[in-house]
Amino acid sequence: MKDTFTMDCPQPRLLDETHQGVIGTGMDRPDGPQKVSGTAPYTADNPTEGVAHGALVRATVTRGRVAGIDRASIANLPGVIDVITDPRMTRNPAQGMAGEAPVQPGDAVHYHGQPIALVVAETFEAARDAAQRLKVTYTTENAAVTPENGEHEVGEPDAAGDFQRAFDSAEVQLDREYTTPSQVSAAMEPHAAIAEWKGNEVTLRAAQQMVRFNKAELADTLGIDESQVRILSPFVGGGFGSKLGLGPEAAAACIASQKLGRPVRVVMPRQTVFDCVLRRSETKQRVRLGATKDGRLTAISHDDQVSNLDGEGFAEPTSQASQFLYGADGLSFTQTVARIAATPAGSVRAPGEAVGMLAFESAVDELAQELGMDPLELRLKNIPATHPLDGRPYSVRRLADCLTGGAERFGWKDRAVKREGDWLVGMGMASAARSNMLVKSAARVRLTGDRAVVETDMTDIGTGTYAILAQITAEMLGLPPAQVEVRLGDSDLPGASGSGGSFGANSAGSATFLAAKDLRGQIAERLGCAVDDLTLQDGRARGANREVALSELVEAELTAEATIEAGETAETHFSSGFGAHFAEVAVNEWTGEVRVRRMLGVMAMGRILNEKTARSQAIGGMVWGIGGALTEEMVNDSRDGHVVTRDLANYHVAAHADVPRDMQVVFLEERDDWANPIQTKGIGELGISGAGAAVLNAIAHATGVRIYDFPATPDKVI
Ligand code: MOS
Repeated sequence: MKDTFTMDCPQPRLLDETHQGVIGTGMDRPDGPQKVSGTAPYTADNPTEGVAHGALVRATVTRGRVAGIDRASIANLPGVIDVITDPRMTRNPAQGMAGEAPVQPGDAVHYHGQPIALVVAETFEAARDAAQRLKVTYTTENAAVTPENGEHEVGEPDAAGDFQRAFDSAEVQLDREYTTPSQVSAAMEPHAAIAEWKGNEVTLRAAQQMVRFNKAELADTLGIDESQVRILSPFVGGGFGSKLGLGPEAAAACIASQKLGRPVRVVMPRQTVFDCVLRRSETKQRVRLGATKDGRLTAISHDDQVSNLDGEGFAEPTSQASQFLYGADGLSFTQTVARIAATPAGSVRAPGEAVGMLAFESAVDELAQELGMDPLELRLKNIPATHPLDGRPYSVRRLADCLTGGAERFGWKDRAVKREGDWLVGMGMASAARSNMLVKSAARVRLTGDRAVVETDMTDIGTGTYAILAQITAEMLGLPPAQVEVRLGDSDLPGASGSGGSFGANSAGSATFLAAKDLRGQIAERLGCAVDDLTLQDGRARGANREVALSELVEAELTAEATIEAGETAETHFSSGFGAHFAEVAVNEWTGEVRVRRMLGVMAMGRILNEKTARSQAIGGMVWGIGGALTEEMVNDSRDGHVVTRDLANYHVAAHADVPRDMQVVFLEERDDWANPIQTKGIGELGISGAGAAVLNAIAHATGVRIYDFPATPDKVI
């Protein structure tokens, strides 16, 4: 049976009525033992008979054309098989989501580090060595590599009311400029692909976030039909946006494999990941706030300048959360895009909020200071009744509860700067917000006896999809979760949203829920009772004065497939996760070193499907918040744009030593009936949104030092 379901009204809360005690609990990941024992096969782990190894050759000029590739320069190296050049291979990785990035035709070089060829050899080492030795000549053109020198395109403002007038007449004004550096996802698993052809059909094993879309991209890239493509991506070691679109390693593996008539594996070494996986744009942000003396915001403006590659469609949506967090009489948000020759800009964990809220929530905090007002009170006072730009009602919003509940739990009212020897200790806080999405998704649930199988091409990028889809199905069908098998990451299965933008659990979870709901109807029919009278528990079905074991009732397989689509509610109501972050930091007054002592995130993000995986997501985001505030910075050489920070020794993500033991996350009970049939909201990215600002505001509280140029490294804090 198939069913397409479109959201257009508040939903019944079936998951609250099934009472299995499975949904929401911190169930261990079913895939956990495989992952911690190293037996979960990630892409590159799959042994492939007769596989050849490819290494991407990257351009060593900033812009121009490849004039010649001297194949003879590596021909005598042991193990070298071929040098593959093909315009389809250098397809821009940003194309996946944005759809408007330039195809990089033929021999054109758009940025330093762009893949231009693939060297294939018998071993990974030989391929990598030869790729580095290959002699390539270029003709070069001048190109801007810094946003200041790039061509600027100024967008139309998003606005409501008359910002300028409101700002000019405000009793208190704040006008600040901030900069944030480029960042990269730096996912644990480097990008990898293994391609193998059988006739005119290709199977690609690849680390991807959105298999349904990637299948279409691959078919389009290769110029073949989607039915000729199968993508397998059952385990993915983190993505954070970098695996949303099809990467050059995947296209290259397919093209080389077809040409050579044998399977080809392409694994990016870490340096290549930094060189040619899409980056988060650096930003320049101007925040202007106007307020009355008693702290009512009258004017809000958050203008930003970001960069991307010439012709690219994606631009970091920096002011995304600033547009709906607080209300004012006049609001205005304008984006300027600078075109530069650099790795394509793309989605990196909470695109927009992650860096936008660093600046915006720093400014709100500084305004509170100017007003002589508690920053918590300023935020509480300015929560708008409806969306400030378009007037839509919020679906559910517990921002105020997060702020006040967090303040109480964290001991906010007792905050005072403390001195401990050379260390100054202070507290800071910030609001958190990340808008919520639903993407069309399908899933199939098959039930035989008391065992169920969930099938969807949805991915688990470390987030816990295997766990939550098993929980939803178990809860709905009254089965122990161990009797539910979840199959993911195979493009032959029903197409789901994939993982990205924190929409995966909402979307694939809703499709799974609807398929299981359909099965409940089929079971009721078999039992001869109305579905409302059906109780499914412990592998037994009850209804119409009968009680039967599912193993007896369902001898032959029952199947249901369902599709969820975003409907009217997405237009009539504005749905977002909200929260509040609190941080306590110690700053060394001689060295400027910042130690985060403890952090608390209080979040309301709809129904929690799995308390443990949700918490891990939130903590992961907060850790990233620390990194964004204090350490993370991608450096490009200002002469040719090449990436200088090409490994995790130079690109500083927050490590264990940077993260306090005391990281607390509290979820407030919430059901978002307007979001989707399971009343969830996206979780992954809310943890990072605002977390860094709480750290920066704590530094300001402890030391009086405001940072405007991130990250807040010791030289800036001192
Ligand atoms: Mo999302 S930017 O895919 O973490």
